[in-house]
Amino acid sequence: EPKTIGQRGAFIVIEGLDRAGKTTQARRLCDKLYSEGHNIKTLRFPDRTSPIGKMIDSYLQSQTEMDDHVIHLLFSANRWEKAKWIEETLQRGYTIICDRYYYSGMVYSAAKHNPSLSLDWARAPDIGLPRPDVVVFLDLEPEEAEKRGGYGDEKYEKKEMQQRVRELFLGLLKTDGHEADMKVVNAGESVDAVGGRIVEKVEETLKKVAEGKSGVGKV
Ligand code: TMP
Repeated sequence: EPKTIGQRGAFIVIEGLDRAGKTTQARRLCDKLYSEGHNIKTLRFPDRTSPIGKMIDSYLQSQTEMDDHVIHLLFSANRWEKAKWIEETLQRGYTIICDRYYYSGMVYSAAKHNPSLSLDWARAPDIGLPRPDVVVFLDLEPEEAEKRGGYGDEKYEKKEMQQRVRELFLGLLKTDGHEADMKVVNAGESVDAVGGRIVEKVEETLKKVAEGKSGVGKV
C-alpha cells in the first residue's frame, strides 16, 4: 500500500556545488523512498526541455551571451513554469525529489559579483514559489570537487566561481529567512555514508508531513 494515499507528499530539494554528487544521491534517495512505499516524482532545475530551458542551456554552453539579470530571471521563470505542477503533484500524494532549486538560483547569480545583483535582488523573483519541506545541501570543498575528475566545460564550472558559490550557500545558514533551515551534509565521504546522512535528514521531514503538521508553504 502506498504510504502517501490520502495525504500530501513531501517536497525534498537536494542542493550543492557542481560535482558534489547531487544527481547520484537524488537517484538513491528516490529508490530508497520508493522501496518504502512512497509515491515519488523527480524534478531538476534547470529543466532544459522547455523553450526557456533551451535558452538557459544555450547560455550555460556559452553559445549565447546574456546580461546577468536576464539569465537570472530565466532560471527563475524556469521554476515558475513548474510551480503549479509541483503543488498539484504534492497534493496528489507524490513526494517530489528535486535536484537544485531557487537556492542555486540565488547563490550562482550573486556569486558573479555584479554590483546591481545582490542576494536580495536574486531572491525576489522566486518569492511565492512552493516552499520545500526540507533542503539538503551537499557540501564539498572545491579542491575535492576538482579531484573527482574535474569540472566540465559549462559556464560556472571554474574553481573561483565554485568557491564563491560555496561561501554564499553556507552564508544562507546565517540569514533570517527559511533558507537558514537548510541541512548541510558533508559530501566528501563515501556515496553510502552521504546517502545515509541524507536519509536521516529527510526522514524527520517525512514524519512531520505524514502527521499533517506541515502545509505546503510559499517561498
Ligand atoms: P546542472 O549542472 O545541475 O544542470 O546546473 C547547471 C548550472 O546552472 C549549474 O552550474 C548551476 C547553475 N544554476 C544557476 O546558475 N541558477 C539556477 O537557478 C539553477 C537551478 C542552476
